[in-house]
Amino acid sequence: MPACPSLYSAAFDLLSAPSTMMPSVPAPRPTRLFRSELAVPGSQPKMFEKAARSAADAVYLDLEDAVAFDDKASARANVVDALNAIDWGRKTLEVRVNGLDTPFMFRDVIDIVSRCPRIDLLIVPKIGSPADLHAVDMLVGQVEMEVGRSQRTGLVALVESAMGIANIEAIAASAAQPGSRLEGITFGSGDFAASTRMRTTSIGGVTPHYGVLTDPAGSQPGAPRDFHWNDPWHAVHSRLVVAARAWNLRPLDGPFADFRDSDGLLASARRAAALGFEGKMCIHPAQISQVNDVFSPREDEVAHAHRIIDAMRAAAAAGQGAVSLDGRMLDIVSIRQAEQLIDRAEAIRAAAG
Ligand code: COA
Ligand code: MG
Repeated sequence: MPACPSLYSAAFDLLSAPSTMMPSVPAPRPTRLFRSELAVPGSQPKMFEKAARSAADAVYLDLEDAVAFDDKASARANVVDALNAIDWGRKTLEVRVNGLDTPFMFRDVIDIVSRCPRIDLLIVPKIGSPADLHAVDMLVGQVEMEVGRSQRTGLVALVESAMGIANIEAIAASAAQPGSRLEGITFGSGDFAASTRMRTTSIGGVTPHYGVLTDPAGSQPGAPRDFHWNDPWHAVHSRLVVAARAWNLRPLDGPFADFRDSDGLLASARRAAALGFEGKMCIHPAQISQVNDVFSPREDEVAHAHRIIDAMRAAAAAGQGAVSLDGRMLDIVSIRQAEQLIDRAEAIRAAAG
């Protein structure tokens, strides 16, 4: 029994408060539901209405790698029209602009920011350093000032190169700059694999060559050995999630390109959710409901989270910091885990209207 129960109550309040109480962490960005993000090529207007009616939390219209070089200008015009003409409901609306090393990026930014009041975020591909983001941030700011845009356009860094991962901590930390527009970091698996020369052509999938062979089970010659497939994305995923979460940014997992393999998608999305990703990019409408499900707390998880909160309140009232529930230890950190789950479930319910 602790000497001073009120200290435990105070700790309960403090530790269950949002993490922004920590002084070095920047304020949270706008809260957005981001379980699924549907990618739609800007050169495929026939897909726009379907995307708008889909169950994706966010939609991004692409001007970059899903658009052929000769179609860049017409795709940009399609996207400007669509952002203004289509009813996108409450979706978060994004455009992926071309990279800083192309002749298209500045015009993409100017046209989208100056002519599309509905845009929420620009996704900036191939971010390799904080300076890349700074350059786009300045351009966006100038366009907003020129046209008198009142709603700030946010930025998402698409990190998809060896250089981007080498600099991931600095990229994420740039969110602490006053006025930073950065809201999230997305991992781009295809470009990352090309950049690091990973021996795979699969975008977001696994490979039979990345695994471990166990020692023989027994000393007899020819004793059986097992081969366990491993996740080749694990190290980079983990690093990106930690960097993003350290600076209150949303980490988003990249695509799983094999859109007919729903079991493979499910496994990929579950791994991402387990590590702390906020959601996952989808490249086909068939992927959305599975991804939404994976990143939504189940009812039994929410009910259990409420039991944890109740048990910890009772513990705090009794001056206890750690208690057991169903044979498992709970302590004050359990409050934070449970509250995150409940908050997420409530945000989903609110978004559903
Ligand atoms: N957004 C909206 N609608 C989409 C879509 C998307 N990303 N992908 C497919 N559709 C639509 C198709 O137009 C089709 O509509 P319809 O039934 O009205 O004709 C329907 O969904 C079924 O499509 P399907 O025939 O299964 O696929 P497809 O061969 O037309 O397209 C891809 C396959 C991969 C080319 C397409 O899904 C795509 O372009 N995805 C996005 C690619 C991208 O943005 N990449 C960059 C990020 S990595
Ligand atoms: Mg890419």
